[in-house]
Amino acid sequence: MKVLTVGGGGREHAAVEALYRSGAEIYAVMKNANPGIIKRSKDHLLCDEKNVEKVCAYAKEKGVKLAFVGPEAPLEVGLVDALEAQGIRCASPTKAAARIETSKTFMRELVERHGIEGNLGFAHFDNAKDAEAYLRTVDHEIVVKPVGLTGGKGVKVQGEHLHSFEETMDYVNEIFDNNIGGAGVILEERAIGEEFTQMVFVDGKRIVPLPLVQDHKRAYEGDVGPNTGGMGSYTDADHLLPFITQKEREEAIAILQSIVDAMAEDGCPYRGTMYGQFMLTLKGPKIIEINARFGDPEAMNVLPILKTGFQDICWKMATGTLDDDVEFEKKATVCKYVVPKGYGVKSESGHEISVDEDAIAKCGATVYYANVDVKDGKLVTGTSRSVGVIGIADTLEEAEANCERALEHVKCDAVFVRHDIGTRALVQKRVDHMKELRSKA
Ligand code: AMP
Ligand code: GLY
Repeated sequence: MKVLTVGGGGREHAAVEALYRSGAEIYAVMKNANPGIIKRSKDHLLCDEKNVEKVCAYAKEKGVKLAFVGPEAPLEVGLVDALEAQGIRCASPTKAAARIETSKTFMRELVERHGIEGNLGFAHFDNAKDAEAYLRTVDHEIVVKPVGLTGGKGVKVQGEHLHSFEETMDYVNEIFDNNIGGAGVILEERAIGEEFTQMVFVDGKRIVPLPLVQDHKRAYEGDVGPNTGGMGSYTDADHLLPFITQKEREEAIAILQSIVDAMAEDGCPYRGTMYGQFMLTLKGPKIIEINARFGDPEAMNVLPILKTGFQDICWKMATGTLDDDVEFEKKATVCKYVVPKGYGVKSESGHEISVDEDAIAKCGATVYYANVDVKDGKLVTGTSRSVGVIGIADTLEEAEANCERALEHVKCDAVFVRHDIGTRALVQKRVDHMKELRSKA
């Protein structure tokens, strides 16, 4: 089948590989020349992914039947609505359905209105004065979030990034002064626990869960530093994570099903992959955010171990015919992102980077290109994450070792990696943290 893919990051490269494996003829649109995506595409167009008119004209010219849109920005401007108006089926949500991600207030209010489990205390503000008045009344730690999209980098947590009332207000003022996210501020109750990602395939009504993943949002080793889009992630061979029970996972899946039901009831049914980020707390999983797409890096963990044809799954999501025929290999995966120097604060870009794909494959690993581009015939880094390296094996320890060996075959002199992701020590720290919380209960 002719399939349009939109997006040029690591997540999209992973999706393109999975589509290619399942027989899709790929027509790719992306803003950067991602060599991994280009290699698997019959044809590609380099353009702004939010240019709805241009993307639609390209899809029409190529006669695609199905579309997969990776990033949130084109969803927010209604690319799916426009493609569907041309008769192209989409395995991604409409503009209205994508509000589950594009407006944090929409998500919290939907969850509240429908009495869905897992919500956190929150308040929305469109000016700093009201936010300040509210802040004076709360007696617990809070999290400051721009309401709109910020590429995963706009959230600051009291006790971690913000250490006083003044620092908190400074950040609130900065969001309003610079119009970060473009839609006001949300102040949320801080949840304490361990984070996990539960993604599901959705066809408007039914959901099918993917293996659990744990991402690492902080820029530096030891979980410190600014929030990023995600520095790396792991899955375990049993598709659970070492600190969570099957019952707790099922609670998170039930929350996502309730959200999907609520959206259908409200007249904006959700189709495509839905991403649930949760904090496992002593009161069960709490919603941190819901995204209208695959997680990045999380897609790079789960898609290489997807046994079922991804093209078929996309078609079923797009046409409301999803069934339980979705299988993943019982393998552990560890993904570490190679990112440009300064990433999370101010990235240095334009440095030459080389990737030895064959050597990486020999290490029991795979590689996905992300925010890299070809300039003067050379592969160079952009300002966002450069290359994802994924070790795959029967156990987490082996997967981590494979990933580390493979990382030696990515060369660039202006990058860094969080080497602690997926290590025994860091995973044990998570397990111990949850144990400690439970023992205090
Ligand atoms: P987000 O962009 O919403 O995923 O937030 C980035 C990171 O901030 C998350 O991965 C969490 O580590 C943290 N965070 C966001 N919201 C909360 C919350 N309500 N409680 C605790 N931590 C949070
Ligand atoms: N890994 C976090 C995200 O995709 O938003």
